Amino acid sequence: MKGGCVECFIILGFLWAEITLGFGVDVQISEVKCIEEERQALLKFKHGLLDPENLLASWDSLEDCCKWKGIGCSNQTGHVIQLSLPGQNMVFFQSEYYISAPNLQGEISFSLLGLQHLTYLDLSSNNFSGKPLPAFLGSFPKLQHLSLYNTDISGAIPRQLGNLSSLIYLDLSGNYKLTEVHSLDWLSQLYSLEKLNMAGVNLSQAVNWPDKVNRLPSIIDINLAYCQLSMPMPPVLPNANSSSTLSSLDLSSNYLSSSIFPWLFNYTSLVDLMLYSNELRGPIPDAFGRMNSLRTLALYQNQLQGGVPKSFWNLCTLSSLHLGYNNLSGQLSEFMSNTSGCMADSLELLYLDKNKFTGPLPDNFGNMSNLIVLSVVGNFLEGVVSETHFSNLSKLQDLFLGSNSLSLNFSFAWKPPFQLDTIQLGSCKMGPAFPKWLQSQNMFTKLDISDAGISDTVPPWFWDITPRLDHLNMSWNQLHGKVPDLSSPKVATFSNNIDLSHNLFEGPIPPFPSNVGAIFLSSNRFSGSISFLCALTKGLLNVLDLSNNMLSGDLPDCWIHFKQLSVLSLSNNNLSGEIPSSMGSLILIQILRLGNNSFVGKLPLSLQNCKNVDNP
Ligand SMILES: *[C@@H]1O[C@H](CO)[C@@H](O)[C@H](O)[C@H]1NC(C)=O
Ligand SMILES: *[C@@H]1O[C@H](CO)[C@@H](O)[C@H](O)[C@H]1NC(C)=O
Ligand SMILES: *[C@@H]1O[C@H](CO)[C@@H](O)[C@H](O)[C@H]1NC(C)=O
Ligand SMILES: *[C@@H]1O[C@H](CO)[C@@H](O)[C@H](O)[C@H]1NC(C)=O
Ligand SMILES: *[C@@H]1O[C@H](CO)[C@@H](O)[C@H](O)[C@H]1NC(C)=O
Ligand SMILES: *[C@@H]1O[C@H](CO)[C@@H](O)[C@H](O)[C@H]1NC(C)=O
Ligand SMILES: *[C@@H]1O[C@H](CO)[C@@H](O)[C@H](O)[C@H]1NC(C)=O
Ligand SMILES: *[C@@H]1O[C@H](CO)[C@@H](O)[C@H](O)[C@H]1NC(C)=O
Ligand SMILES: *[C@@H]1O[C@H](CO)[C@@H](O)[C@H](O)[C@H]1NC(C)=O
Ligand SMILES: *[C@@H]1O[C@H](CO)[C@@H](O)[C@H](O)[C@H]1NC(C)=O
Ligand SMILES: *[C@@H]1O[C@H](CO)[C@@H](O)[C@H](O)[C@H]1NC(C)=O
Ligand SMILES: *[C@@H]1O[C@H](CO)[C@@H](O)[C@H](O)[C@H]1NC(C)=O
Repeated sequence: MKGGCVECFIILGFLWAEITLGFGVDVQISEVKCIEEERQALLKFKHGLLDPENLLASWDSLEDCCKWKGIGCSNQTGHVIQLSLPGQNMVFFQSEYYISAPNLQGEISFSLLGLQHLTYLDLSSNNFSGKPLPAFLGSFPKLQHLSLYNTDISGAIPRQLGNLSSLIYLDLSGNYKLTEVHSLDWLSQLYSLEKLNMAGVNLSQAVNWPDKVNRLPSIIDINLAYCQLSMPMPPVLPNANSSSTLSSLDLSSNYLSSSIFPWLFNYTSLVDLMLYSNELRGPIPDAFGRMNSLRTLALYQNQLQGGVPKSFWNLCTLSSLHLGYNNLSGQLSEFMSNTSGCMADSLELLYLDKNKFTGPLPDNFGNMSNLIVLSVVGNFLEGVVSETHFSNLSKLQDLFLGSNSLSLNFSFAWKPPFQLDTIQLGSCKMGPAFPKWLQSQNMFTKLDISDAGISDTVPPWFWDITPRLDHLNMSWNQLHGKVPDLSSPKVATFSNNIDLSHNLFEGPIPPFPSNVGAIFLSSNRFSGSISFLCALTKGLLNVLDLSNNMLSGDLPDCWIHFKQLSVLSLSNNNLSGEIPSSMGSLILIQILRLGNNSFVGKLPLSLQNCKNVDNP
């Protein structure tokens, strides 16, 4: 997120997904004592594990293994039917998994075979350090639930998994060293399988995977994201028909490079379809209009062309439509020419960003009265956006109109019906007066009104900005006047960027919130010293650009606080004096510009080798 481009929030926001482990499966508390052979099997299993945090303490202290942590027994037979020892929760961010702290390490001992009545096995988010997925895991005839998510297992998936004929739930995701070498043959034997998650597993050799996956008669949810799938799609799959129960299909972040495959449209039961981050080409087929259970359609980051089919308006349940980062074109008014279909009521998230749409923003956007996010950033839209566009959008939270050629024309007294969180209007012309309607918005966390043709002072009410603000970009306007103290807690606590560069601001640089990450004030008329810096003791600053101002005086000697600083530009000011030795502590500095000042002396030794330095 460095550099803080607002468009990125769209994509990142969508990719964040917290994956929680530990299912609410009832561990039956029973009076039955466990069976001695199974107790021994469990103790041998434990013997193969490293348990630095002593999580399995109860396994030593209690006689009855049915009462051990993670163990569930049948109240009728006393057999161990559940072994559930998932590690910590973790998060999935872009293509990477981060673990907080794996609980158990070691290996999955084959002594587990002593637990032949097991129906539920969850060892996810423990660390088996690259050991292979043991083939004996295919030998549990009653197993319904198997989760080895994110366990750092590796090697080939043993085809013996196909023997798990009772399996309903299989999660092998997050194991990037795991490879499929049997073309998923074993998969088609899993007749009861409802949920399959292999996200991140290397399926590059699974050539006819669509056919294998389509043969699962009970399947509801398939996740094959980040699987290195590359095979061009076959046009016909006999088993893809409307009697299928498939509800969620995620093939995102692969190398699929065909046009959108026709058999998909036979899955009329699909609710969530994720095909983003592939290389899909051609038009978006009209046939999407037949998928009348669809709730989420994510096609962003492909190379799709043409317009948005009008058949989408027939979809009464569609709530998220993500078409950003493609090569779509045509007038938006064409797609919006008849908005009387159901989708006008159901749509909540609409992303059309980074395409080649042209023409004005159609008036009847206002018909989608449940819209929460609207993004058309980075197209070729032109014309005037007025308050009638928004009159019914009372639920809108995130508005992205930037990087088009739009003008905003709101009446001075306009009171919008919404409270926005993200306001991205960079390059939308809205001047010369400072936009008064912003005064009604007191929840926003991101604001970009850069390059907006505003030639005004910033009204005092504005600086009372929301304390949650983490991105403020007002650069490339003609804003003038002084900037007040921004450090007081009642004002902003910027945790990220503030960009006021390329304006006409004057007077001293004000105090900033102590957790600010990047300050861009270049090309203004700021004067006085830069002593404000020494109050930023939290050390979170990574970019400071004060170039092209009228700053003067000595450099302060508090650089010891700025270990995170990677860009420091002070060039073209009237700063003077010696370079303080504490600057030597800028260990992460990549760009250092001090030119066109009146410094004397030398750079600290540690900075002299830094590449991007323009010396004083
Ligand atoms: C602010 O907006 C300008 C122009 O729209 C852009 O060049 C700049 O990178 C933005 N600043 C930040 C910190 O994102
Ligand atoms: C097992 O015992 C629990 C609690 O004693 C009870 O709620 C449950 O119904 C029992 N299950 C069976 C299958 O008898
Ligand atoms: C698993 O443990 C090994 C050392 O046994 C370590 O190198 C590796 O980073 C750990 N993996 C994770 C995901 O923590
Ligand atoms: C398990 O699968 C393997 C290979 O698929 C097969 O040869 C074997 O007979 C199966 N074992 C059982 C017990 O079904
Ligand atoms: C995936 O597997 C193929 C074939 O086994 C191998 O060539 C490729 O390097 C693997 N990819 C990764 C990222 O490990
Ligand atoms: C859709 O399903 C029908 C059978 O219900 C089948 O004849 C047809 O080939 C399928 N279409 C595609 C594109 O797979
Ligand atoms: C439809 O798909 C199911 C499995 O999903 C299959 O059992 C059935 O034979 C298919 N029907 C047709 C007509 O292809
Ligand atoms: C985008 O689509 C246009 C036609 O609309 C085509 O000429 C161009 O090559 C496409 N660009 C890419 C990167 O696919
Ligand atoms: C807006 O949508 C409603 C149905 O939700 C429809 O009746 C109406 O005609 C639409 N208005 C316009 C201008 O398309
Ligand atoms: C608009 O679409 C609806 C159904 O989606 C249709 O009934 C109506 O005739 C269309 N109106 C026009 C003017 O095309
Ligand atoms: C806003 O909603 C009202 C009432 O539902 C409707 O009459 C009006 O046409 C809508 N405005 C727009 C721009 O769709
Ligand atoms: C802006 O709106 C006002 C009244 O709402 C109108 O008189 C004026 O022509 C509009 N300006 C532009 C550039 O559209």
